[in-house]
Order: sequence, then C-alpha cells, then structure tokens
Amino acid sequence: MANDHCEKILSMPFQPSPQLEVAIQAAKTAGRIVNEFYENGFETRDKSTAGESAGLVTQADIASEQAIIQIIRNAFPEHHILAEETMDQSVVEDHLWVIDPLDGTNNFAHGIPHFSISIAYCYQGKPICGVILDPVHDQWYLAEQGKGAWHNQHKVHVNDRPLLSETIVAVGFYYDRGAMMRATLAAMEEFFDSQVHGIRRMGSAALDITYVGLGRFGVYFEYALSPWDFAAAWIFLQEAGGIITDGHGNELRLEPTSVLATNHHLFQQALPIVIRNHPTGDG
Ligand code: IPD
Ligand code: CA
Ligand code: CA
Repeated sequence: MANDHCEKILSMPFQPSPQLEVAIQAAKTAGRIVNEFYENGFETRDKSTAGESAGLVTQADIASEQAIIQIIRNAFPEHHILAEETMDQSVVEDHLWVIDPLDGTNNFAHGIPHFSISIAYCYQGKPICGVILDPVHDQWYLAEQGKGAWHNQHKVHVNDRPLLSETIVAVGFYYDRGAMMRATLAAMEEFFDSQVHGIRRMGSAALDITYVGLGRFGVYFEYALSPWDFAAAWIFLQEAGGIITDGHGNELRLEPTSVLATNHHLFQQALPIVIRNHPTGDG
C-alpha cells in the first residue's frame, strides 16, 4: 500500500539527498510493518511510571524501530541513532538520526487510525531532512533543508491566517496527569477565550506539527515532548514557512522540551498564552 506514493515522491522535482532517500526507504519498510500489526493484532504493555497514564508500547513500536535502525545502520554505519524505544541518549553527535518508530501509540493501541512514523537526519544538532509517514492513509510528508516541505508530490506552505479567531489550535498532553495536565488545560481555556475555531487533541505530535506546516492548524503547543516526537516535523514546518520554538520562544534543541509551532502570523499571539501557563522546570 505504501508503495504508490513512495514512487511518486522519488520523482519529485528535486534530487533528494542520500539521507532523505534512506529515510524514505526506512519509513516505507516501517509503514508496512506498522500496517500489518494494525490489521492483524499485536501485544501491548504499559511502560508508564508513577503519576503517568497510558504510556503504552506495542510490538509494532519495537518491530518498526528495529527495521528503521537496521536500514540506517546499513547505509550509514558511522552515524549515531537516537530512537525512542532503545533510549540511546547520545544527542551531541554530528551525524544523528532521530526516530519515533510509532508516534501516536495510544491511538494505534485503541484502533484509532491516526499515528505516524517519524525519521529525521540531523547534523550538528539541527534537522537537515525528515520524513513523517501516516501509514494507514499512505500519506507522506517530507522536507529537506532549502528544498521545501512536501505532501506526497505537492509542495506545501503554512496557512496565512493572521488571527487566532480564524484558526484551529492543536494541543498535546504528555502522559502526566498532574501539574502538566492542568497547565495545558489552563492554556486551552485561554485559547478558547481568544475565540479560536476549535481545539484539537489528535494524538500524534509529529503529525500535529506537520499539520501546522500543511496549513490545517494555525498553532500547536505541548508542554513536554521528546526529540523523536518533533525532529522530523521541525524541518518540515520550517521548510513550510512556519515558526517552531520551545514553549518560552527560544530556539529548539534536540532534548526533552516544550514546543510551540505556528504559522508565520500567529507566533506573537500564541506565545504569551503558552508562556503564562508554562509549567515550571520543564522545557
Ligand atoms: C506521544 C504522542 C502524543 C503526545 C505525547 C507523545 P508516542 O508519542 O506524540 O500526541 O501528546 O506527548 O509522547 O508515545 O505515541 O510516541
Ligand atoms: Ca512520540
Ligand atoms: Ca513512539
């Protein structure tokens, strides 16, 4: 199923770097694995720690990650890999791949068809190219520095809405059910007070940020993310003309952090709301 779009992507009007080609290849294989588990069933376990809820991991997360790592290692044996389920924390390497083998595991585990595979190649701490694949719907989102953001074979851009009252805001919750959750709810209330068209909690941070790049959302924020949640979508949104920072408006880094992603107009309107409600000590 994932093949059709992949062939179209490879005939895009730009020459993908060897890294982007490998990322596409890895996502294609991972997409097939994830779809097979989604259709045929899988085992799930809970990796939550105290105070958290629903930190699920499935056979699909593990198998997808193993396949992606193997493809990258074969192509670039000297590069380092930061992958969610193997928890390698070496983020200071020059050549680093950052992988979320299944973003939106909670949706996946409940049979909700909204999840993704996210693969980024980073150089000296910044994403250079990335792929986000929605495998169930066979939707490909790709970006490469200086070459634009692409949805299948179409170049995309953030929307041009200048007002919060004309846009949809997306939000994410970490598995925390304490101060972080309450901070998020308070920020959501402020966004509602700004008369936004709606607030969405879709369940895949990589797709949430990507959707800002596609012009579907004007704003997305979340108070606790890991690098694998946002690395590929970071370059996608930048190439789509959007703005992405941490939840204080500072430059993003490949580390656990809050994230704010917006179109080019809404950053200054969204930032004060996200800062005012920001939990202390995170991001
Ligand atoms: C999660 C999803 C979710 C976000 C969480 C992430 P996972 O990733 O991106 O939307 O709210 O913070 O941890 O665990 O499904 O890979
Ligand atoms: Ca994730
Ligand atoms: Ca994941």
